[in-house]
Amino acid sequence: MKLSVNIDHVATLREARGGIEPDPVHAAVLAELAGANGIVAHLREDRRHINDRDVRALREIVTTKFDLEMAATPEIIAIALETLPDMVTLVPEKRQELTTEGGLNVADNEELYTRIVDTFHERGISVSLFIEPDLAQIEASARTGADMVELHTGMYAEARNIDEASHQLRRLEHGAANAAEAGLLVKAGHGLSLKNVSPITTIPEIREVSIGHALIGHAVFVGIDAAVKAYLAALR
Ligand code: PXP
Repeated sequence: MKLSVNIDHVATLREARGGIEPDPVHAAVLAELAGANGIVAHLREDRRHINDRDVRALREIVTTKFDLEMAATPEIIAIALETLPDMVTLVPEKRQELTTEGGLNVADNEELYTRIVDTFHERGISVSLFIEPDLAQIEASARTGADMVELHTGMYAEARNIDEASHQLRRLEHGAANAAEAGLLVKAGHGLSLKNVSPITTIPEIREVSIGHALIGHAVFVGIDAAVKAYLAALR
């Protein structure tokens, strides 16, 4: 299972003082040197952490795979088409939220996402859609022509007891199997940590996880190199 490291929260720390340190671009270099398989950054409309300069610099220095996470708004789509990341992950975005809340509603907006997927494909950029592991969303995602879905692990990560966690794990297992059957590559993410990631590694269709907050939080104590290596070991 591959590990993509989301470096947004290095930028969150920078923005707490509005200066230039710590630099998320520096974190991306260290994460790649430690063995990360990809780097993810979310350019939010309000630029609360990652900014336009970070996206340009990441495009220059990331040698594994640069995944630009983004809302499908005209402004951010234009930046993505100019920057040419290796892939984009489309997510819903609300200004007031602390982090990405639900998955995309692809089922009710299939035409819109089909058009957006086509636009990115014309420029050679792969597209992943961040969705709940529900059959209707998975089937609609496959019809848009997207390359990949990222299954939302938030409800699993936030489960308050074993029964709820098992139920959410089953949903992810079924979702991953359905998505693979529909011809989609499958990734998972949101709220994953060293404490809860192991069961996810048992789902064979999930080829990759995207982890940010908990990994960067761990790195505050042990450094990026050790934190990335600890997550890579957990995924093995
Ligand atoms: N995947 C997606 C689509 C996300 O929006 C986020 C949060 O930015 C993550 C993965 C990473 O979540 P976390 O920071 O909780 O690891």
